[in-house]
Amino acid sequence: EKGGYASFMLKEIADQPKAVADTLLGRVDGTGLLHLDEVRIAPEVLREVDKVVVVACGTAYHAGMIAKYAIEHWTRLPCETELASEFRYRDPILDQRTLVVAISQSGETMDTLMAVRHAREQGAKVLAICNTNGSTIPRESDAVLYTHAGPEVAVASTKAFLTQLVACYLVALYLGQVRGTKWGDEIRTVVRQLSEMSGAVDRVLGTMEPVRELARSLSSHNTVLFVGRHVGYPVALEGALKLKELAYMHAEGFAAGELKHGPIALIDEGLPVVVIVPSPRGRSVLHDKIVSNIQEIRARGARTVVIAEEGDEEVVPYADHLIRIPATPTLLQPLVATVPLQVFACELATARGNEVDQPRNLAKSVTVE
Ligand code: F6R
Repeated sequence: EKGGYASFMLKEIADQPKAVADTLLGRVDGTGLLHLDEVRIAPEVLREVDKVVVVACGTAYHAGMIAKYAIEHWTRLPCETELASEFRYRDPILDQRTLVVAISQSGETMDTLMAVRHAREQGAKVLAICNTNGSTIPRESDAVLYTHAGPEVAVASTKAFLTQLVACYLVALYLGQVRGTKWGDEIRTVVRQLSEMSGAVDRVLGTMEPVRELARSLSSHNTVLFVGRHVGYPVALEGALKLKELAYMHAEGFAAGELKHGPIALIDEGLPVVVIVPSPRGRSVLHDKIVSNIQEIRARGARTVVIAEEGDEEVVPYADHLIRIPATPTLLQPLVATVPLQVFACELATARGNEVDQPRNLAKSVTVE
């Protein structure tokens, strides 16, 4: 049951370090390379793949957006991520050389299932990433990589999302390994970095009291905006989705570079804007860009809530509230950056008197189109 937590959601947030570690379990061989027996699509077939299409809904779609960055970076295969509910209606171009990755916690989401059927009818190979053993989507796919989050009871997805990310990274690396686009040592390095993420998530969970306090202080606001760049953009969308579904507040996520093309007009005095800041190391261009975005936002009176790596001092002057996350490789940052946003939404919803495990109008698994 709830294991002493006030809600399943709080319990599932707290379960995340274990869920992340469990999803890696048994998938790395003695030499530090990936061993994914479950992916029953022959290496010869995977080597012929010339395009990857990821389909999913809601939170799983946000995991899929992050998968695109990882797949393109590690395999150099073109990858698109599409909402499952839009996918088959635009007559997508698919053939035997297309790998479709369908992500679903429940394995029963009708939109995603229909996308899987459509893809297979067109001759594409479908790999499911799923949390529910024996559910419909894995049964109808060519292969499945299960996430090991354990049962997720709260309607809002938390631990399933983090494990979907881990599974997406594994698929991306595995494609790189099989196709030879990523050499052994690089794969070993990323696999090792991935194995350190469970501890990093645990550290984030240990520092959430100021986030809860901040959430309570914002409970009478009407709107919260979230902005990010690169993999921080889907994280921003996920933060906004959690707030909508749990706190019933107007929340939107934007790519930081898009602000000046319209959304910046929304910003006025005191509006809370959450900014996910990429690592200052490695991708310094991204970091510079976001620092100037934060300045723009703040100059227009917003109250900035900045999520930044430990040791990132450059953002300090522009942060009305600073939330620290451990330093991670750029592509893996969503695993830690999402956690404060889950806690934030859960606490804010609770402060507004909402039932977090059963938000109004929502069902855990959406089996209608
Ligand atoms: C949001 C949420 C939903 C699901 C979506 C897909 O917190 O839980 O957006 O992510 O309905 O569900 P699955 O993953 O079961 O296909």
